[in-house]
Amino acid sequence: MKLGVNIDHIATLRNARAGDFPSPLYAAFTVLEAGAFNVTCHLREDRRHIKESDIRLISEQTKRLNLEMAANDEIISIALDVIPRSITLVPEKRQELTTEGGLNVALDIEKYKIINNKFRSKDINVSAFIEPEELQIEAAKKADFNFIEIHTGKYAQYLDPYKRQEELAKIKKAAEFALSAGLSVNAGHGLNYENTGDIAEIEGIYELNIGYSIVAHAIFAGLNNAVKEMLEILKAAELIKYCR
Ligand code: PXP
Repeated sequence: MKLGVNIDHIATLRNARAGDFPSPLYAAFTVLEAGAFNVTCHLREDRRHIKESDIRLISEQTKRLNLEMAANDEIISIALDVIPRSITLVPEKRQELTTEGGLNVALDIEKYKIINNKFRSKDINVSAFIEPEELQIEAAKKADFNFIEIHTGKYAQYLDPYKRQEELAKIKKAAEFALSAGLSVNAGHGLNYENTGDIAEIEGIYELNIGYSIVAHAIFAGLNNAVKEMLEILKAAELIKYCR
């Protein structure tokens, strides 16, 4: 099973000081070097984290960009120009903190079919981020998506172990159904170091997309070294002062 790492929140941190650091491009190279298969970035309409220049650089230099996006005309024309390796269509609301719920493909199969054919004619894989529901999977197939990404957000949020198992069973069933319909299956949202194992055990899932928990964990996995490196600079300065 492959891992796609969503690096949006590297850009959130960069934007906090309106500068260039930390660089999403450098983060992209770092996650790929660590063994990730894809780098996922969500170019939102409000550009709250990732910017157009980020996706252009990351796509060009790594050839491994999975572009998450809403099906809106402006972003579609950017994507057709950038030509990322894959696209994941998601619903997008201005006020949300992160993507809420899956895309309702069944509501507008023809619209998605037209969009997907534009992307697929450029050899871009297209994925629909959907709830684990047969109706949406059938609609995704009819709309010419070649991938789906099953929304694991509800599974991740349930604290009640019974509800969580129930949702896990739904995800398993949806994955089987999508595979039998000839779709490739990804999954993601809300996955972390505690709840990913059970999803990773599901047969046939191609890739998991994980962002927030990895970027958040990186802070504590790296904070110790970051402090030590700064202390080395202080020690070196002390030595210089002593030698003067
Ligand atoms: N997959 C999709 C479609 C998403 O919208 C997101 C969040 O940007 C993720 C996966 C990753 O979710 P998380 O950041 O909770 O791991």
